[in-house]
Amino acid sequence: MKLANRVIAWQRTHGRHDLPWQNTRDPYRVWLSEIMLQQTQVSAVIEYYQRFLKHFPDVKQLALATPEAVMAQWAGLGYYARARNLHACAKRVMTDWSGCFPQDAASLATLPGIGPSTAAAIASFCFGERAAIMDGNVKRVFARYFAVEGDPSRRATEMQLWQLARQELPSIKTCATDVEAMARYTQGQMDLGATLCTRSRPRCTECPIEKGCLARRTGRTEELPWPRERKILPERTIGMMVACQDSRVLLELRPETGIWGGLWSLPEFEATDTAEHACQTLGFQPKKVQKLSPFLHVFTHYRLTITPLLAYATANRASSDLTSSARRWIHVEQLDALGLPAPVRKLLDGLRADQLLK
Ligand code: ADE
Repeated sequence: MKLANRVIAWQRTHGRHDLPWQNTRDPYRVWLSEIMLQQTQVSAVIEYYQRFLKHFPDVKQLALATPEAVMAQWAGLGYYARARNLHACAKRVMTDWSGCFPQDAASLATLPGIGPSTAAAIASFCFGERAAIMDGNVKRVFARYFAVEGDPSRRATEMQLWQLARQELPSIKTCATDVEAMARYTQGQMDLGATLCTRSRPRCTECPIEKGCLARRTGRTEELPWPRERKILPERTIGMMVACQDSRVLLELRPETGIWGGLWSLPEFEATDTAEHACQTLGFQPKKVQKLSPFLHVFTHYRLTITPLLAYATANRASSDLTSSARRWIHVEQLDALGLPAPVRKLLDGLRADQLLK
């Protein structure tokens, strides 16, 4: 039996069937789930997905929302460019597609935030299109099944995997006799990668495609796929000011473009600056300053060491500098509702847990 037919049969009996974004062909719901599931675990997404749908039940409501309202529902999910693209995509569906998502992968892939794999997932789930997907889980399944050498994040290896994924799509005949087949095949590949064909200790004896799997047959499941190549990343160091007063923290809205674009973050200063100078530049007199332990945040392109400074500001915090349009004193209770960069969220949560910020 062909790989696809085995995966389809296995999905029917052993795959996941009750995730909140399944059992629907509504492209709005499927699209939303696929964007949330990019780089994020199913278990982390479920609650966000349900809450987001309550706030924005359809693409029109989302398109009409303010960026702040969208970000407030996304806050905590991370990778905030996804939320900005999600909003831009909803607006485009309203303006360019009369409020109806296009029904083929090629058109879907022209929308903001929808790459070829996400487009194929939506088109196959909602419209039964025979389109190949290629996410991290699927890369692992195909790299093992065909014993593909090379780092799958490298372009040449990825192209080879896409080619194999297209070649293995279920036949037109299968799809014609079973209208659910294509959606089931897409879900089956995801389920296989997430539940059996895991990075470590794959459960090969339960796998529907064990017999044809080259890695399994040659005892190479441990070494395939190749691990991501470790690059030596450039290092940067910055200071971050946690200025607080009366249960409020000074935050600034970052410009739309660039790192952490559109998120609220802590004001930064040169790591070589003195505490006095940093406070002065921000326009306030500290009552007390405390150096906190530096910590590392790794981006795809560089490593950032953050040296935080905790400064309790004196009462006249409303100096002209501090009320500049991009800076606000935000009450600690409001932090949860804001989109904050992950390391800033971690730092502030830690300070709150230690009662240094209350
Ligand atoms: N990851 C991406 N899409 C998914 C889906 N539909 N179900 C489970 N995990 C996924």
